Amino acid sequence: MTPSTQTVLGLETSCDETAAAVVRLGADGAVTVLSSVVGSQIAAHAPYGGVVPEIAARAHVESIDRIADQAMAEAGLGYGDLTGVAATAGPGLVGGVMVGLAFGKAVALARRLPLVAVNHLEGHAVSARLAAQVGYPFLLLLVSGGHCQLLAVEGVGACTRLGTTIDDAAGEAFDKIAKTLGLPYPGGPELEKLAQGGDATRFPLPRMLLGRKDCDFSFSGLKTAAARIAEGLSTETERRDLAAAVQAAIAAQLAERSDRAMAAYAIARQGQGLRFVVAGGVAANQAVRSRLTATAAARGFSFTAPPLAYCTDNAAMIGLAGAERLALGLSDPLDAPARPRWPLDEAAALSNPVHSTGRKGAKA
Ligand code: KG4
Ligand code: ZN
Repeated sequence: MTPSTQTVLGLETSCDETAAAVVRLGADGAVTVLSSVVGSQIAAHAPYGGVVPEIAARAHVESIDRIADQAMAEAGLGYGDLTGVAATAGPGLVGGVMVGLAFGKAVALARRLPLVAVNHLEGHAVSARLAAQVGYPFLLLLVSGGHCQLLAVEGVGACTRLGTTIDDAAGEAFDKIAKTLGLPYPGGPELEKLAQGGDATRFPLPRMLLGRKDCDFSFSGLKTAAARIAEGLSTETERRDLAAAVQAAIAAQLAERSDRAMAAYAIARQGQGLRFVVAGGVAANQAVRSRLTATAAARGFSFTAPPLAYCTDNAAMIGLAGAERLALGLSDPLDAPARPRWPLDEAAALSNPVHSTGRKGAKA
């Protein structure tokens, strides 16, 4: 098939951000983000200390058309200039997913455009490619509020899972511990702010799964230990030191498990083309970034993290994932379903399912 330029409207509604973006993927592989609009629902959920699915779905319905129009206007394009529409079809809070997917289907039908039903995780996987030239294949650490996994990404839609969390996701651990420290939702960025200047060595915390030979993650023991310490704190300095210790412990575990995965990946690739990419909301954390940067350097991997705006949920990554599929001639029918659960590596998820609850359901 002859390569062609793709200009795609991306839509993201799987959690608490209503987002739309227009992304262009050139025939030469060059990526241009023509617009990226993210409407946050933080104010609507803050009183409840977390995302309320029903409120999220309603808020998506109320704003998706305005946000999509804004993305088109900022890109300086009309719907007739698009070559496709890409909407998150899962995994996520299904009420919200249905809103963005239905909107995408409507645009596709009305404008006779191909539709791509995008896996939200595939969006995070390509997010580093929005602002840097990262070729396939690469080793990916995907760390968000609902997911914590290491994946060998071979190309579009071709992933092998090397490790996953056996309980909470890293972002979920940040959020829950932040709550016990009395910080407002969303806790991850707030905990990072509180940790600034804190003494990470004051409160010893358990190092989970240390010495285990696989690449899996676990954060529940850390969460319990931190909650117990938090109960007995009285000063602001103590809270700051605990926040610093928690952040350091999470960063250390992410780095240690990534180090294991890098070692195995380097052997499998015979030391060639060693690229490490981190994506997802937790990739916005500077302590996490610097630990991973050092780990990658020590293992001879290049290191790429998306700019902060593309770490957390956005629609530019969904648009790019859709554009890459369209460039390969892949699209989806207009009856594509919304999927609350949708692992990137379906084979691994079936053979080793991980059952847990969380911000986005099972971390499979
Ligand atoms: O990727 P994302 O926006 O949504 C999901 O797909 O889950 O990730 C959101 C998660 C939340 O748990 C949030 O607390 C965490 O990423 N997060 C952070 C930071 N920024 C966002 N965690 C730690 N430090 C940050 N700076
Ligand atoms: Zn996400």
